[in-house]
Amino acid sequence: MSGIRLEGVTLTRSTREEYAFDLKRSVFALVTGRYRRPRRRTVLDNVDLTIEPGEKVGLIGPNGAGKSTLLKVVCGILTPQRGTVVADGRIAPLIEFGAGFDPDLSVVDNIELYGTLLGRSRAEMLRKTDEILDFAELDDYRNATVRSLSSGMTARLGFSIATDIEPEILVLDEVLAVGDESFRKKSRRRIDQLWKEHVTVVLVSHDMSMIGEMCDRAIWMVNGAIRHDGPANETTAAYFADVETSATEKLAQMREQLEIAGG
Ligand SMILES: Nc1ncnc2c1ncn2[C@@H]1O[C@H](COP(=O)(O)OP(=O)(O)OP(=O)(O)O)[C@@H](O)[C@H]1O
Ligand SMILES: [Mg+2]
Repeated sequence: MSGIRLEGVTLTRSTREEYAFDLKRSVFALVTGRYRRPRRRTVLDNVDLTIEPGEKVGLIGPNGAGKSTLLKVVCGILTPQRGTVVADGRIAPLIEFGAGFDPDLSVVDNIELYGTLLGRSRAEMLRKTDEILDFAELDDYRNATVRSLSSGMTARLGFSIATDIEPEILVLDEVLAVGDESFRKKSRRRIDQLWKEHVTVVLVSHDMSMIGEMCDRAIWMVNGAIRHDGPANETTAAYFADVETSATEKLAQMREQLEIAGG
Protein backbone atom coordinates (compact mmCIF):
# COMPACT_ATOMS: atom_id res chain seq x y z
CA MET A 1 0.00 0.00 0.00
CA SER A 2 0.91 3.68 0.45
CA GLY A 3 1.36 4.39 -3.25
CA ILE A 4 0.05 7.34 -5.22
CA ARG A 5 -1.95 7.27 -8.44
CA LEU A 6 -3.12 10.23 -10.54
CA GLU A 7 -5.16 9.75 -13.68
CA GLY A 8 -6.01 12.52 -16.13
CA VAL A 9 -5.65 15.17 -13.45
CA THR A 10 -6.51 18.63 -14.74
CA LEU A 11 -6.71 21.68 -12.53
CA THR A 12 -7.32 25.28 -13.49
CA ARG A 13 -6.98 28.29 -11.24
CA SER A 14 -8.19 31.79 -11.54
CA THR A 15 -5.43 34.38 -11.64
CA ARG A 16 -7.23 36.32 -8.94
CA GLU A 17 -8.22 33.45 -6.68
CA GLU A 18 -5.69 34.55 -4.09
CA TYR A 19 -7.20 37.88 -3.32
CA ALA A 20 -10.33 38.46 -1.36
CA PHE A 21 -12.83 40.77 -2.99
CA ASP A 22 -11.75 44.33 -2.46
CA LEU A 23 -14.40 46.97 -3.26
CA LYS A 24 -11.98 49.88 -3.35
CA ARG A 25 -9.71 48.14 -5.77
CA SER A 26 -12.56 46.99 -8.00
CA VAL A 27 -14.05 50.48 -8.26
CA PHE A 28 -10.59 51.87 -9.01
CA ALA A 29 -10.12 49.25 -11.71
CA LEU A 30 -13.51 50.13 -13.23
CA VAL A 31 -13.00 53.90 -13.30
CA THR A 32 -9.50 53.61 -14.67
CA GLY A 33 -10.71 51.15 -17.29
CA ARG A 34 -8.36 48.49 -16.02
CA TYR A 35 -11.03 46.01 -15.04
CA ARG A 36 -10.41 42.64 -16.54
CA ARG A 37 -12.21 39.39 -15.97
CA PRO A 38 -9.93 37.08 -14.01
CA ARG A 39 -8.47 34.60 -16.46
CA ARG A 40 -8.30 30.90 -15.71
CA ARG A 41 -5.02 29.20 -16.22
CA THR A 42 -4.45 25.48 -16.63
CA VAL A 43 -2.05 24.66 -13.85
CA LEU A 44 -2.15 20.86 -14.16
CA ASP A 45 -2.78 19.52 -17.63
CA ASN A 46 -4.02 15.95 -17.84
CA VAL A 47 -1.39 14.46 -15.54
CA ASP A 48 -1.03 10.68 -15.30
CA LEU A 49 1.32 9.46 -12.62
CA THR A 50 1.85 6.30 -10.61
CA ILE A 51 4.23 6.17 -7.67
CA GLU A 52 4.81 2.76 -6.14
CA PRO A 53 4.94 2.25 -2.37
CA GLY A 54 8.40 3.02 -1.04
CA GLU A 55 9.55 4.90 -4.12
CA LYS A 56 11.49 8.15 -3.60
CA VAL A 57 10.53 10.53 -6.37
CA GLY A 58 11.96 13.97 -7.09
CA LEU A 59 9.87 16.64 -8.78
CA ILE A 60 11.77 19.30 -10.73
CA GLY A 61 11.05 22.08 -13.21
CA PRO A 62 10.98 25.86 -13.57
CA ASN A 63 9.06 28.28 -11.32
CA GLY A 64 5.36 28.07 -11.95
CA ALA A 65 5.55 24.62 -13.59
CA GLY A 66 2.92 23.22 -11.21
CA LYS A 67 5.10 21.24 -8.77
CA SER A 68 3.61 22.64 -5.56
CA THR A 69 0.13 22.37 -7.04
CA LEU A 70 0.71 18.70 -7.81
CA LEU A 71 1.76 18.09 -4.21
CA LYS A 72 -1.34 19.88 -2.94
CA VAL A 73 -3.51 17.66 -5.12
CA VAL A 74 -1.78 14.55 -3.76
CA CYS A 75 -2.43 15.74 -0.19
CA GLY A 76 -6.06 16.59 -0.91
CA ILE A 77 -5.57 20.31 -0.23
CA LEU A 78 -6.70 21.12 -3.79
CA THR A 79 -9.30 19.17 -5.76
CA PRO A 80 -8.80 18.93 -9.53
CA GLN A 81 -11.68 19.71 -11.88
CA ARG A 82 -11.02 16.50 -13.79
CA GLY A 83 -9.31 13.20 -13.13
CA THR A 84 -8.80 10.92 -10.15
CA VAL A 85 -6.34 11.05 -7.29
CA VAL A 86 -5.58 8.13 -5.01
CA ALA A 87 -3.06 8.38 -2.18
CA ASP A 88 -3.09 5.23 -0.11
CA GLY A 89 -1.59 5.73 3.31
CA ARG A 90 -0.97 8.14 6.15
CA ILE A 91 0.28 11.23 4.46
CA ALA A 92 2.49 13.90 6.01
CA PRO A 93 2.59 17.08 3.95
CA LEU A 94 5.47 19.45 4.49
CA ILE A 95 4.34 22.00 2.03
CA GLU A 96 3.91 25.52 3.24
CA PHE A 97 5.10 26.00 6.73
CA GLY A 98 2.52 27.46 8.96
CA ALA A 99 -0.26 26.29 6.63
CA GLY A 100 -1.74 23.96 9.24
CA PHE A 101 -1.26 26.32 12.19
CA ASP A 102 -3.54 28.75 13.94
CA PRO A 103 -1.16 31.62 14.76
CA ASP A 104 -3.20 32.81 17.75
CA LEU A 105 -3.14 29.48 19.54
CA SER A 106 -0.26 28.31 21.67
CA VAL A 107 2.45 26.00 20.40
CA VAL A 108 1.06 23.00 22.34
CA ASP A 109 -2.47 23.60 21.07
CA ASN A 110 -1.11 23.82 17.56
CA ILE A 111 0.63 20.48 17.92
CA GLU A 112 -2.72 18.95 18.75
CA LEU A 113 -4.46 20.83 15.93
CA TYR A 114 -1.88 19.97 13.28
CA GLY A 115 -1.80 16.33 14.38
CA THR A 116 -5.56 15.97 14.15
CA LEU A 117 -5.45 17.62 10.70
CA LEU A 118 -3.00 14.88 9.74
CA GLY A 119 -5.45 12.29 11.00
CA ARG A 120 -3.95 11.41 14.39
CA SER A 121 -6.00 11.18 17.57
CA ARG A 122 -5.91 13.89 20.23
CA ALA A 123 -4.68 11.41 22.82
CA GLU A 124 -1.80 10.38 20.60
CA MET A 125 -0.81 13.98 19.95
CA LEU A 126 -0.90 14.78 23.67
CA ARG A 127 1.39 11.81 24.26
CA LYS A 128 3.81 12.99 21.61
CA THR A 129 3.83 16.68 22.55
CA ASP A 130 6.99 16.60 24.67
CA GLU A 131 8.90 14.61 22.10
CA ILE A 132 7.87 17.05 19.35
CA LEU A 133 8.77 20.11 21.42
CA ASP A 134 12.06 18.52 22.29
CA PHE A 135 13.01 17.81 18.68
CA ALA A 136 11.96 21.30 17.60
CA GLU A 137 13.93 22.72 20.55
CA LEU A 138 10.90 24.75 21.53
CA ASP A 139 10.33 23.56 25.12
CA ASP A 140 10.60 27.13 26.35
CA TYR A 141 7.90 28.24 23.93
CA ARG A 142 5.20 25.68 24.66
CA ASN A 143 2.70 28.34 25.80
CA ALA A 144 3.74 31.08 23.39
CA THR A 145 1.51 31.74 20.39
CA VAL A 146 2.76 30.51 17.03
CA ARG A 147 2.53 34.10 15.81
CA SER A 148 5.33 35.05 18.20
CA LEU A 149 7.75 32.44 16.79
CA SER A 150 10.33 33.32 14.18
CA SER A 151 9.74 31.82 10.73
CA GLY A 152 12.58 29.33 11.23
CA MET A 153 11.08 28.26 14.55
CA THR A 154 7.67 27.77 12.93
CA ALA A 155 9.30 25.69 10.22
CA ARG A 156 11.01 23.55 12.87
CA LEU A 157 7.71 22.98 14.61
CA GLY A 158 5.99 21.91 11.37
CA PHE A 159 8.85 19.60 10.49
CA SER A 160 8.91 18.00 13.94
CA ILE A 161 5.18 17.28 13.92
CA ALA A 162 4.95 15.99 10.37
CA THR A 163 7.92 13.64 10.74
CA ASP A 164 6.92 12.45 14.20
CA ILE A 165 3.58 10.96 13.21
CA GLU A 166 5.12 7.98 11.40
CA PRO A 167 3.96 8.88 7.92
CA GLU A 168 3.62 6.34 5.11
CA ILE A 169 3.73 9.02 2.45
CA LEU A 170 5.97 12.03 2.93
CA VAL A 171 5.49 15.04 0.71
CA LEU A 172 8.23 17.66 0.86
CA ASP A 173 8.18 21.00 -0.92
CA GLU A 174 11.62 22.61 -0.76
CA VAL A 175 11.71 22.21 2.97
CA LEU A 176 14.94 20.38 3.62
CA ALA A 177 16.72 23.68 4.01
CA VAL A 178 14.72 24.95 6.97
CA GLY A 179 16.08 26.07 10.28
CA ASP A 180 19.61 26.94 11.24
CA GLU A 181 22.68 24.81 10.60
CA SER A 182 22.29 22.56 13.64
CA PHE A 183 18.60 21.94 13.01
CA ARG A 184 19.30 21.23 9.38
CA LYS A 185 21.75 18.47 10.32
CA LYS A 186 19.27 17.01 12.76
CA SER A 187 16.37 17.12 10.32
CA ARG A 188 18.52 15.58 7.62
CA ARG A 189 19.21 12.61 9.95
CA ARG A 190 15.52 12.19 10.60
CA ILE A 191 14.76 12.32 6.90
CA ASP A 192 17.50 9.75 6.25
CA GLN A 193 15.82 7.47 8.77
CA LEU A 194 12.46 7.79 7.03
CA TRP A 195 14.24 7.20 3.73
CA LYS A 196 15.46 3.83 4.97
CA GLU A 197 12.02 2.82 6.11
CA HIS A 198 9.44 1.90 3.55
CA VAL A 199 8.09 5.43 3.23
CA THR A 200 6.88 6.75 -0.12
CA VAL A 201 8.45 10.16 -0.76
CA VAL A 202 7.74 12.96 -3.20
CA LEU A 203 10.32 15.71 -2.95
CA VAL A 204 10.26 19.05 -4.77
CA SER A 205 13.62 20.78 -5.06
CA HIS A 206 15.61 23.09 -7.27
CA ASP A 207 18.76 21.43 -5.95
CA MET A 208 19.58 18.89 -8.65
CA SER A 209 22.43 17.28 -6.76
CA MET A 210 20.08 16.66 -3.84
CA ILE A 211 17.53 15.09 -6.19
CA GLY A 212 20.23 12.90 -7.73
CA GLU A 213 21.47 11.86 -4.30
CA MET A 214 18.15 11.22 -2.59
CA CYS A 215 15.75 10.01 -5.26
CA ASP A 216 15.54 6.89 -7.42
CA ARG A 217 13.33 8.55 -9.92
CA ALA A 218 12.67 12.13 -11.00
CA ILE A 219 9.87 13.86 -12.85
CA TRP A 220 10.42 17.07 -14.78
CA MET A 221 7.36 19.28 -15.11
CA VAL A 222 6.80 22.09 -17.57
CA ASN A 223 3.57 24.10 -17.86
CA GLY A 224 1.55 21.70 -15.75
CA ALA A 225 2.54 18.62 -17.71
CA ILE A 226 5.18 15.92 -17.31
CA ARG A 227 8.07 16.51 -19.71
CA HIS A 228 10.28 13.63 -18.60
CA ASP A 229 9.94 10.78 -16.13
CA GLY A 230 12.84 8.43 -15.51
CA PRO A 231 15.83 7.59 -13.32
CA ALA A 232 16.78 10.68 -11.28
CA ASN A 233 20.16 11.24 -12.95
CA GLU A 234 18.70 10.89 -16.41
CA THR A 235 15.92 13.42 -15.70
CA THR A 236 18.20 16.00 -14.08
CA ALA A 237 20.66 15.69 -16.99
CA ALA A 238 17.85 16.25 -19.49
CA TYR A 239 16.67 19.28 -17.52
CA PHE A 240 20.18 20.74 -17.32
CA ALA A 241 20.71 20.23 -21.04
CA ASP A 242 17.43 22.02 -21.79
CA VAL A 243 18.21 24.96 -19.51
CA GLU A 244 21.63 25.29 -21.13
CA THR A 245 20.23 25.16 -24.66
CA SER A 246 17.69 27.86 -23.96
CA ALA A 247 20.37 30.02 -22.31
CA THR A 248 22.63 29.62 -25.35
CA GLU A 249 19.73 30.42 -27.68
CA LYS A 250 18.89 33.56 -25.71
CA LEU A 251 22.52 34.66 -25.81
CA ALA A 252 22.67 34.12 -29.57
CA GLN A 253 19.49 36.16 -30.01
CA MET A 254 20.89 38.99 -27.92
CA ARG A 255 24.12 38.95 -29.95
CA GLU A 256 22.13 39.10 -33.19
CA GLN A 257 20.13 42.06 -31.95
CA LEU A 258 23.29 43.84 -30.87
CA GLU A 259 24.84 43.29 -34.29
CA ILE A 260 21.72 44.65 -36.00
CA ALA A 261 21.71 47.67 -33.70
CA GLY A 262 25.43 48.22 -34.20
CA GLY A 263 25.04 47.96 -37.99
N1 LIG B 1 -3.23 30.41 -4.93
C1 LIG B 1 -3.16 30.48 -6.25
N2 LIG B 1 -4.12 31.08 -6.96
C2 LIG B 1 -4.06 31.15 -8.30
N3 LIG B 1 -3.05 30.65 -9.01
C3 LIG B 1 -2.06 30.05 -8.37
C4 LIG B 1 -2.04 29.93 -6.94
N4 LIG B 1 -0.91 29.29 -6.58
C5 LIG B 1 -0.25 29.02 -7.71
N5 LIG B 1 -0.92 29.46 -8.79
C6 LIG B 1 -0.50 29.35 -10.20
O1 LIG B 1 -0.30 27.99 -10.52
C7 LIG B 1 0.83 27.82 -11.37
C8 LIG B 1 1.73 26.75 -10.79
O2 LIG B 1 2.20 27.19 -9.54
P1 LIG B 1 3.02 26.25 -8.56
O3 LIG B 1 3.10 26.96 -7.27
O4 LIG B 1 2.44 24.90 -8.58
O5 LIG B 1 4.45 26.23 -9.28
P2 LIG B 1 5.82 25.55 -8.81
O6 LIG B 1 6.22 24.60 -9.88
O7 LIG B 1 5.68 25.02 -7.44
O8 LIG B 1 6.82 26.78 -8.86
P3 LIG B 1 8.05 27.20 -7.86
O9 LIG B 1 9.26 26.50 -8.37
O10 LIG B 1 8.15 28.67 -8.09
O11 LIG B 1 7.66 26.85 -6.47
C9 LIG B 1 1.45 29.19 -11.54
O12 LIG B 1 1.04 29.69 -12.79
C10 LIG B 1 0.85 30.01 -10.43
O13 LIG B 1 0.67 31.34 -10.84
MG1 LIG C 1 6.49 25.56 -5.58
